[in-house]
Amino acid sequence: MNLPAQDISCFARRRSQLLTWMHSQGGGIAVLATAPERVRNRDNHYTFRHDSDFYYLTGFTEANAWLVLIAGQEDRSMLFCEGKHPERELWDGVRWGPQAAAEHFGFDQAQDVSELDLSLPSLLVGTPRMFTILSGPNSPELLTRIQNWSAAARATVRGSRAVPHQWTDLSEVIAEMRLIKDAAELHTMRAAAAISAQGHVRAMQVARPGRHEYELEAELLHVFRKHGAQSVAYDSIVATGANACVLHHRAGNAIMHDGDLVLIDAACELDGYASDITRTFPANGKFSGPQRALYDIVLAAQRAAADLTSPAERWNAGHDAAVKVLTQGLLDEGLLQGSLDGAIETGAFQPFYMHRTGHWLGMDVHDVGSYREPPASNEDRPWRMLQAGMVLTIEPGLYVRRSDTVPEQFWNIGIRIEDDAVVTSAGCELITRGVPVEADEIEAIMRNHAIVSPS
Ligand code: GLY
Ligand code: MN
Ligand code: MN
Repeated sequence: MNLPAQDISCFARRRSQLLTWMHSQGGGIAVLATAPERVRNRDNHYTFRHDSDFYYLTGFTEANAWLVLIAGQEDRSMLFCEGKHPERELWDGVRWGPQAAAEHFGFDQAQDVSELDLSLPSLLVGTPRMFTILSGPNSPELLTRIQNWSAAARATVRGSRAVPHQWTDLSEVIAEMRLIKDAAELHTMRAAAAISAQGHVRAMQVARPGRHEYELEAELLHVFRKHGAQSVAYDSIVATGANACVLHHRAGNAIMHDGDLVLIDAACELDGYASDITRTFPANGKFSGPQRALYDIVLAAQRAAADLTSPAERWNAGHDAAVKVLTQGLLDEGLLQGSLDGAIETGAFQPFYMHRTGHWLGMDVHDVGSYREPPASNEDRPWRMLQAGMVLTIEPGLYVRRSDTVPEQFWNIGIRIEDDAVVTSAGCELITRGVPVEADEIEAIMRNHAIVSPS
């Protein structure tokens, strides 16, 4: 992803915001890494995806790079990245190299990553505090590197205060920044959502009894890549029949049968931003009576949650509203007995609805950010008030497995309906409605098999 120069300024702005916060904590040095490439098998690597926090502060998408920020008498931002290497670039593609990266991305300085271990100890000397992120996939390696740099720094100077003696985790402050999306981020997320919605429409048009889950996965990927998305945001879930009751069933080789419901939870990542959509439809194009009854309950639950997705509400309001509608529906259909309040209080609905109604969405599909009021993200804090610029999913579901306690006509019905919502000043905007959600509209799309070209 090579962004035009006018779009690069946001990364420098974020670094400057973080440096200001570091000063408020007494100043010091921050070190953040993006992972090196990892071997998949023999000399073949996994497709590289940059670390989200690192990207948020740099815009730099190459592997094996480090960001160093110094909040001192004079602030400095430094990048350590892979050096130019004509032979490797012949095989793997052009690298920025330190000099061009510094100029393009606006770092005060950039160096070859092979110089990191030599440079860091001297940067640590005399620095009171170190800031970093010690959770996540890079943390064991990062911790070892930091210990080695500190030991090397200590060896060159006397006195216990010669190297950082205080540690501050950056996760929470960066998560707070990432939680509110700016206009450019929302633009990208809308574009990702629109592509993903098209993928779902195509999958519905192609689905029919006798086809495999993996064939629908292929249709989704076709649309995502055809419209420029670099990747899926997460492995595609395509689940037919009983598989739909497995929340994260990966598309496999099961065959869609007449009478099955098919649940697809799949979406693309575009320019580093995720989308996340689920739709559920009948393999044969027509919902059965029991399928339609449960489908409409889930849709009503989603509507109830969306109505409470606004800056006037707390995070949990949507989930509570969805649980209420789902539980009443289960009582109405005879899948539960007793009173609404009783079924909610005892958790009797949970065998049919065992997940939350949403999560933050952003660069990561389950994006960062506390669901409780800051500063502490612990269980005692009230649920967070929603704010314009937050993005979340709204994804209620019902999952009815084969059971002696459930009428047979409901067995193996798994339904989830998931849309992505941007909180606005007045409520929310569902940005994934390029794929219809009403049962009648879905049936109409599925009658339209013929418009799909074989390409
Ligand atoms: N696609 C994963 C989820 O909906 O949380
Ligand atoms: Mn989701
Ligand atoms: Mn999903």
